[in-house]
Amino acid sequence: MINILAKPLTETSNPDLEFAARALSLAAEGIGLVSPNPLVGCVIVSAGGEVVGQGFYRKDNLVHAEAIALEQAGERARGGTAYVSLEPHAHHGKTPPCTEALISAGITRVVCPIEDPNPLVSGRGFERLRAAGIAVETGLLADEASRINEKFICWHDRQRPFVHLKLAMSLDGRISLGQSVSTRLSGEEASARVQRLRHEHDAILIGANTAVVDDPRLTDRSGKPRLRPLTRVVLDNRLRLPADSSLAASTDESPTLVLTNSIDPEKAERLAGTGVEIVPIAGGTGQLDRVLEELRRRDIQSVLVEGGTAVAGAFVDARLVDKVTLIYAPIIIGGENAPAGFGGSGPSAIADALRLTDVTVTRHGDDIEITGYPQR
Ligand SMILES: NC(=O)c1ccc[n+]([C@@H]2O[C@H](COP(=O)([O-])OP(=O)(O)OC[C@H]3O[C@@H](n4cnc5c(N)ncnc54)[C@H](OP(=O)(O)O)[C@@H]3O)[C@@H](O)[C@H]2O)c1
Repeated sequence: MINILAKPLTETSNPDLEFAARALSLAAEGIGLVSPNPLVGCVIVSAGGEVVGQGFYRKDNLVHAEAIALEQAGERARGGTAYVSLEPHAHHGKTPPCTEALISAGITRVVCPIEDPNPLVSGRGFERLRAAGIAVETGLLADEASRINEKFICWHDRQRPFVHLKLAMSLDGRISLGQSVSTRLSGEEASARVQRLRHEHDAILIGANTAVVDDPRLTDRSGKPRLRPLTRVVLDNRLRLPADSSLAASTDESPTLVLTNSIDPEKAERLAGTGVEIVPIAGGTGQLDRVLEELRRRDIQSVLVEGGTAVAGAFVDARLVDKVTLIYAPIIIGGENAPAGFGGSGPSAIADALRLTDVTVTRHGDDIEITGYPQR
């Protein structure tokens, strides 16, 4: 099971913390299997303190995490505590309300870190449980619970897909040897990390130059199951994506969208013949907002932006970045021609630079990952 706590639990730890962490780890088992719904995990602990049921949600299984865990627990749930990673829903959707399942199973206490950001559910699940006499405790591991569902929360709060910008860099902040040179910077372990990152997202987005220069496949090779194929998105106003590119050649495996502001019928026909979908998007100011609107319309809850310089800079300029991951290889490229990671206009004052908070530093072999969240 995935450990979501930074520090291991000690024997003296509070059991609530242990079971709440277990519910979050279970939720994370659903990565790749729930979008655009939330990740949810549930642990049922009997009145005697024993784990008697546990489960996590996956979208292809119409049974919710709470129902799976309660089914395992049976009569042993009576008088017990349910640890749920996200507020149980009280509304009749495709599945019956989980609040009613918890009430009729005889659960007397629910420990749940956060409310559901979905306005259909928010606060109402807790209200319903309290009205039935169940003690509801919130807030334990709330930051971790919000992080696990950061894509779902963004979807509701910002009404757009979650944007995670990722680049591989040299220590001096260069992303290749030259603008027209494909350069592999990351080692094996960092490359495996990138596959895991892809697995967490619904789409990957790159600029036209990267598509032409690197001819990437942009597939999820994490080896983990995913319910929806990873959508590849290219911002390509002049329809430069070659019809014999890897992206055009693999549309059976994963959809490829080319977002463009001008359609040359001949080029469009050639690309469309390969299975690439050409999507008109007006250029100019607000283009990236329109790109994200288009992805939202397709139920794409999260997008991993993988560069290059112009595209990364444009997302930063537009402040349309929710998370940043930079993977540094321990090399210095130098020279005048090696492109920097971020282009665009940049800020005129240092106070306007994109500052990251909640920064974590992780090693992958010789490479160093820095991940953080833009301060808002
Ligand atoms: N190390 C890494 O992680 C990494 C990752 C990716 C790329 N790279 C490297 O980066 C270099 C390519 O970077 P690049 O800056 O030349 O190109 P890029 O960012 O890949 O593509 C830029 C092009 O995308 C198109 N585009 C469409 N809408 C855009 C928008 N809103 N904002 C910005 N661009 C938009 C424009 O071309 P049109 O006007 O023709 O549409 C623009 O010229 C290559 O050397 C590649 O190997 C490195």
